[in-house]
Amino acid sequence: MAGDAPRPQVSEYGSVDPAPPEVLGEVATWSGTVSDENQPMFQRMRAVFALRNQSSDEACLALCRGFSSGSALLRHEIAYVLGQMQNPAALPTLIQRLEDEHEHVMVRHEAAEAMGAIGDRSVIPVLERFSNDPLPEVAESCVVALDLLAWVQRAEFADAER
Ligand SMILES: [Fe+2]
Repeated sequence: MAGDAPRPQVSEYGSVDPAPPEVLGEVATWSGTVSDENQPMFQRMRAVFALRNQSSDEACLALCRGFSSGSALLRHEIAYVLGQMQNPAALPTLIQRLEDEHEHVMVRHEAAEAMGAIGDRSVIPVLERFSNDPLPEVAESCVVALDLLAWVQRAEFADAER
């Protein structure tokens, strides 16, 4: 029966992941899969989402090491999940990705948006510096991230006033 076919699940982050996260395994194994250039992209992405769901500092730092991957698509996906995880431990790596002018524009865009999503205001000077980047995708992402940080601060302020 068609209704019994497995369907992609909505993650705890509210997104349907392009590859379903591995459920069984451990950080070291998933980290190895992410970095293994011989694995199919589908499997490497499954490991990325498994690490995201694991959500520890260890998993976050393992994802940061995944930026050594040769695939810009995978690096972009890693930046995206680091934004979902909202762990400030990823910030030094995300700043490096944004600052690297040899990095793919899609990865730099996602790194900037992840920096906004994490919510730590220490990144504001870096985002401001790149908000005039010659690449519009980079510049616009930095402006969006700055606006998000400002919006969150206003919301927190309004909350405290209540
Ligand atoms: Fe994106």
